[in-house]
This record gives sequence, C-alpha cells and structure tokens, in this order.
Amino acid sequence: MKKFLNLLLIVGCFVLGACGKENKRIIRIAHNQIQTHPTNIGLLAFEEFIESKLGDKYDVQIFPNELLGSQVNTVELTQTGAIDFVVASNAILESFDNIYQIFNLPYLFNSTEHYHAVMDNAELITPIFTATEKSGFEAVTWLDAGQRSFYTKKPINTPNDLKGLKIRVQQGATNIRMMELFGGSATPMGLAEVYTALQQGVIDGAENNELSLTSTKHGEVAKFYSYDMHQMVPDILIGNLKFLNGLSQEEREIFNEGFKLLSRVQRDAWEDSVIQAKQQAQNDMNVQFIYPDVELFKEKVLPLHAEVLESNPKLKPIYDRVQEIGREVKKGGNN
Ligand code: GCU
Repeated sequence: MKKFLNLLLIVGCFVLGACGKENKRIIRIAHNQIQTHPTNIGLLAFEEFIESKLGDKYDVQIFPNELLGSQVNTVELTQTGAIDFVVASNAILESFDNIYQIFNLPYLFNSTEHYHAVMDNAELITPIFTATEKSGFEAVTWLDAGQRSFYTKKPINTPNDLKGLKIRVQQGATNIRMMELFGGSATPMGLAEVYTALQQGVIDGAENNELSLTSTKHGEVAKFYSYDMHQMVPDILIGNLKFLNGLSQEEREIFNEGFKLLSRVQRDAWEDSVIQAKQQAQNDMNVQFIYPDVELFKEKVLPLHAEVLESNPKLKPIYDRVQEIGREVKKGGNN
C-alpha cells in the first residue's frame, strides 16, 4: 500500500509537473539496495555530478530499497517514462529483450578480470546496450554485482545437496533452467520477498553475492554460504529512451560522463564492501563459508550454454567474442 501511494504521488507529480524545486525537471532513479550499498553510493556521486553541471535544469532524485516497486515493476515504469532510470539485474532484463540472456549463463566468465574486461569492452557491449529501442529503454552503464553462490539453511558441499531444495532465483527463464540442471527446485521471486520466504520455510535457500547476507540480512536466516560461484551477473542502469533522446548533445555528453563516474565509484566501493560483508556475516551472524569443488557444479550446468545458443542463435557471435576475450585476459595476465 505504501509503495502504491508513493507511486501514485510520483506519477501524479510527473503528470502535473508540479513537484520540482523551481520547476526543475526531476530525474527519478529507482533501485533495490539499501543506502550504504555501493550502488547507492555511486548514484549519489552521479546526482552530485549532474546537479553540479546542470543543476539549474535538473533535480536528480534517488529512490532506494524498492521504494517504487520491485525491479521488474520499475523496469516497466522506466519503459513507459513514469520514472527515468532503474538499476536492474541483467537476470530480469532477458524477459524484456533476450539479447541479455548472454550474461545470465552460468560459468560464462572464468575470472573477475574476464568479467570486467567483457563488460568494459565498448565494441561488444554497445550493440547490446542499444538493442532495446523497441522496448523503450537503453542501457547506459553496468555496475558490479560480484559473483553469485548458494546460501542455504543446510550446508551445500556438492550439487547433490541441492536435490529437492527450493531455491529462490531471480525472475528469468535462464535462471529457472539453471536451477533445474543443478537438481534443485527453482522458486522465482523479487529480492524483497526473500527474507520472509527463508524465515517461513517457503524456500530452503537462495543465491546471490555476499552482500545479500548483510544488506538484506539473509544471513540471519540462512547460515551456510557455499562458494560454487555459478554466475557473475552484472547490474545494468537502464534509462527511458525518450528522456535520453530528448537531451541535447551537450547534456548527453555530461550524462555520459556521469554514468562513467557512477560506474567507477560503485566498482571502487565493491571489493571493500564484499570483505566487510563477509566479516560481518561470519562474526556477527555466525554464517559459515564453504569452499566446495566448483568443477562438480560446473559439470551440471555447462550444457545450458549449448541449449541457449541453439534457441537464441543471435547470441553466438557475442558468445564467441566473450570466449576470445577470456583467452586474451588469461594470456595477458592481469589486464
Ligand atoms: C543482487 C543484484 C540486484 C538483484 C539481486 C537479486 O543484489 O545486485 O540487482 O536484484 O541480486 O538477487 O534480486
């Protein structure tokens, strides 16, 4: 109800154009993380930057904590222009355009360096980020969301331990199929519902990066975090296409600089946040970290690559380039 009223207020303000300070155009950005999360820190830097350059015209407002609704809902609001930007997990974007399926493949990247090199490769990323015109949005930058592993009420040491367990996944066909191949039972839901579902035993576990143990407090109700590291799924900042296309060239250049700043600040904060979250989960929440044989998990889900490429053949050249970048990164050491 609270969310609905918030939304009503925002849509009302938008229609009437009446809520801006001195008639400034309000830019609304939604995300689903808490205020101390690297994503919010990055967005605050973005806000400050845009307002320092274009503050007479724009008032940037950030709505954290799913205040405007779940990620799926806020992507829809961004499509229609009710809000301007949302940070969405790549996992759910595949339902809006299946080109995003590529980054939902488990074990697509063989290291963090590989993941970053791919996401920073403008030649590879730009066609994907701009492929969604018909869906009414465009991606403007990516943010780190680390690597995803299972966390559960009972320890997961091998994929066999997942058998029969109900595991929350993000809403997307690739994730559901991945869970099937792992042998567990996929239960798709939005992030905000996971804590109660764990607590009430609706699910036996979930999968995410380490920050979810502390920032969304899942470590209070799931005490085993098992590093099978099945996915590195980026978060993507998407913007309403009409809004972006309505910017003058000069404004767009400033926004582009802002997006770069956001990405840099968010990623700089990421590594430390993971270390802190791990310590807090271990020391204050008694979460036990498990380091299983990752190869056993890989074997289960690697067939998904061929399956997806067959059903979505336009991904093949992108997939091949991702592999190639992997080899280049390995050869070049640390680049
Ligand atoms: C990560 C990611 C979010 C996503 C969440 C989830 O926290 O950064 O964008 O919503 O996982 O599992 O739903």
